[in-house]
Amino acid sequence: MEKKLQEIKQQVIECTKCELSKTRNNSVAGKGNFKSDVIFVGEAPGKNEDLKGEPFIGIAGKKLSMALESAGITRDEVYITNIVKCRPPNNRVPTTNERETCKDYLKKEIEIIKPKIICILGNTAFGSLLDGKEITKYRGKIVRKDNQLYFLTVHPAATIYNQKLIDVLKNDIEKLFKLIKELNDNKEIQIDIEYTS
Ligand code: URA
Ligand code: SF4
Repeated sequence: MEKKLQEIKQQVIECTKCELSKTRNNSVAGKGNFKSDVIFVGEAPGKNEDLKGEPFIGIAGKKLSMALESAGITRDEVYITNIVKCRPPNNRVPTTNERETCKDYLKKEIEIIKPKIICILGNTAFGSLLDGKEITKYRGKIVRKDNQLYFLTVHPAATIYNQKLIDVLKNDIEKLFKLIKELNDNKEIQIDIEYTS
């Protein structure tokens, strides 16, 4: 399992499938515990991530770590990745084409790790994975689509200048880990939104 993830990481490092490969310093594959019950999915690498080749290591990453810590979880217990693996210039939102081109890597990460739940961080991941909009309206909710569970919350970067949203993120992450515990205890959980395809 670890070997397969390593192979994907190598493919991501070498990837030139979209134009973001021309401006990046480093591609940023997912990172973390391949046995995690949850995968966190953000948008795209930012400046610090691009320089180091690791996801969520800048200010947004600190917010995410803080929220995890307040739920009693450390980063190395979970797996963290993004919709696109290379930094868009000036941190613009990745285009539909870039997302589509990069999608296979995330798909493979999910197939290998088989998370009990995928935690969507913000609108880009919400749009790409569930065709959703307005994350602030839907955050805190549990979604099921094609037999995969998703949990929706805000992007950690959105909390940087908004103290209220920090509390929202922290509470959501706490709820997420309670939910994971219930899943592991084989308790019945309530699905808020069911996607039918
Ligand atoms: N924002 C993201 O969406 N992902 C990162 O890795 C860092 C910041
Ligand atoms: Fe490849 Fe994704 Fe990077 Fe584009 S963003 S070059 S598809 S790894």
